[in-house]
Amino acid sequence: MNQTLYGSMVKTLTVTDLAAMKHRGEKISCLTAYDASFSALCDQAGIDILLVGDSLGMVIQGQQTTLPVTMDNMIYHTACVARARHRAFIIADLPFMSYPTPVIAAQNAAQLMQQGGAQMVKLEGAKPDIVRFLVEHGIPVCGHLGLLPQQINHTGVYKVQGKSLADADKILSDALQLQQAGASLLVLECVPASLAKTISHELSIPVIGIGAGVECDGQVLVLYDMLGIALGKKPRFSKNFMQDASSISEAILAYQNAVKQQQFPTPDHSF
Ligand code: KIV
Repeated sequence: MNQTLYGSMVKTLTVTDLAAMKHRGEKISCLTAYDASFSALCDQAGIDILLVGDSLGMVIQGQQTTLPVTMDNMIYHTACVARARHRAFIIADLPFMSYPTPVIAAQNAAQLMQQGGAQMVKLEGAKPDIVRFLVEHGIPVCGHLGLLPQQINHTGVYKVQGKSLADADKILSDALQLQQAGASLLVLECVPASLAKTISHELSIPVIGIGAGVECDGQVLVLYDMLGIALGKKPRFSKNFMQDASSISEAILAYQNAVKQQQFPTPDHSF
């Protein structure tokens, strides 16, 4: 897929491009985005992946958790983001309870792709059967392990996962199963940097970390956290890139450069 940007043709990144970046050791930059204006700014800064996360429940809608986010919300925001970007790869979250069975997951993922313009969908947890079914039907999938915000009513708190040996082993084996089922990408949220390093080395697919240390194949942050405008407490693993920037574009570019040069996250932003 080629798109025109400032009069010249720009190629939209594909799953193959992201895999090639891992193989040549180039770090992958990712930010969440929920609307056309921020999508365009991130795209112009060279951000590789725009994740339309169900974090929009908190940062756009002011909800306490991601659980109230609906498929209609996800389709609307994904379409806004997809319309304004040229190069960046678009991933959309399957929201809470939109993937209870393989068939329902496929129907909802198809809507995110057909109506929203997503190139891949992301789902939380160790669900290899759902991943396999989606992949068999032509839907690229990003797994999400570690801290799972859609499980907040089970866990009660948002905290670092995989600290004990048993928990770390489980996350590693879940990651291998998701890859085996055909996932093309994995997000690892809030796990010790040493575990994220092991998983990134063991897996052949790119691993994108958030609160998972510098050794992942790429990094993602919630855009409003890195611009210092999110409601509530700033997560320890995030950094306010607006602090040393004179514009939003400059802050996004600083994040992009810090990820590419492995200057972010530092040990202060890791567990
Ligand atoms: O919803 C989201 O923004 C996410 C990221 C935190 C990875 O899933």
